[in-house]
Amino acid sequence: MTLSWTQAAADGAARAGVLHTAHGDVETPVFMPVGTAGTVKAMTADAVRSTGAKLILGNTYHLMLRPGAERVARLGGLHRMMDWPGPILTDSGGFQVMSLASLRKMDKDGVTFRSHIDGTAHRLTPERSIEIQHLLDATITMAFDECTPFPATLEQARSSMELSMRWAGRSRAAFTPRDGYGLFGIVQGSVFADLRAASADALTAIGFEGYAIGGLAVGEGQAAMFEVLDYTLPRLPADRPRYLMGVGTPDDLIGSVQRGVDMFDCVMPTRAGRTARAYTSQGVFNMRNARFADDARPLDPACACPACSRHSRAYLHHLFRCEEMLGPMLLTWHNIQYYQDLMRGLRAAIGEGRLDAHAAATRAAWQRGEE
Ligand code: GUN
Ligand code: ZN
Repeated sequence: MTLSWTQAAADGAARAGVLHTAHGDVETPVFMPVGTAGTVKAMTADAVRSTGAKLILGNTYHLMLRPGAERVARLGGLHRMMDWPGPILTDSGGFQVMSLASLRKMDKDGVTFRSHIDGTAHRLTPERSIEIQHLLDATITMAFDECTPFPATLEQARSSMELSMRWAGRSRAAFTPRDGYGLFGIVQGSVFADLRAASADALTAIGFEGYAIGGLAVGEGQAAMFEVLDYTLPRLPADRPRYLMGVGTPDDLIGSVQRGVDMFDCVMPTRAGRTARAYTSQGVFNMRNARFADDARPLDPACACPACSRHSRAYLHHLFRCEEMLGPMLLTWHNIQYYQDLMRGLRAAIGEGRLDAHAAATRAAWQRGEE
């Protein structure tokens, strides 16, 4: 049987459950650390595992350019190459082409572009994207889509969404079902309720193992994003996982889980960790701030990661001031740990029917800051 999801509990619109995959089970709601180029930047695979992360994300675009999808396959696949036997979801490439590549040229069959690394010419179509994700040995393959730029007029959003729906059908046809593997469709339609509904219906008619919401966190703001979730999620099959792509802050994750999202990925915890920003139970800190120079307390007293259990805020501040590699390493570790702990807390709260109170208490602690 292809990859499946079973629901264990509900609390309002929020759901808790388990994804059953060829590479192991994953409790949802889940946050996937981003391992774009075959590594969660600044982390060993053991370090990522130690945070409780079960599912990570990789990128078609980066890996097709370096080291190349056929080479990854010869090396035994992405799991083997990066020492991650657990499940891996790969994004399909179009989104990264649009944000990174130069001389992009879209047509009805795909996109031709030049590599941001060496300027060489490449092409992605739905069929080639699915083939690359197969060569990588992705547990979860994403349909090839266009992330509609924001803002878009109704007509621009409509033709972009319709293109993505044709590509979703071609992605489905190109994907070979295997036990414990799955293909997810991606809902587009910008901030237009009618387009989101038409997109959700088109994908449901094709049939996917899971449904992603794309084209969000692109400048529309949190209120507009939550509104899109409010009218889109109820239209998707209730027995399939829902994945909000590229989101977000801890506050975005809580609000989205309350609306029924099961899966997330975002560069935020890893990128922030490399730039001295720490997400904690007491809010966001910039470790370069001089107020930490003599602060002997742990970064986050509620966290058991190495940065918090073995070091002081003053040491982290010192590492960033000296531009030492250990600063980004320790802070990335902490931020991933914080995101995993946040999701574990949300799962437990859904299981016990106290999600709203838990969400309010978590937000209040960020507001209060340091005691
Ligand atoms: N990552 C963030 N948003 C998107 C999207 O709309 N499509 C894809 N494929 N990836 C994304
Ligand atoms: Zn920590």
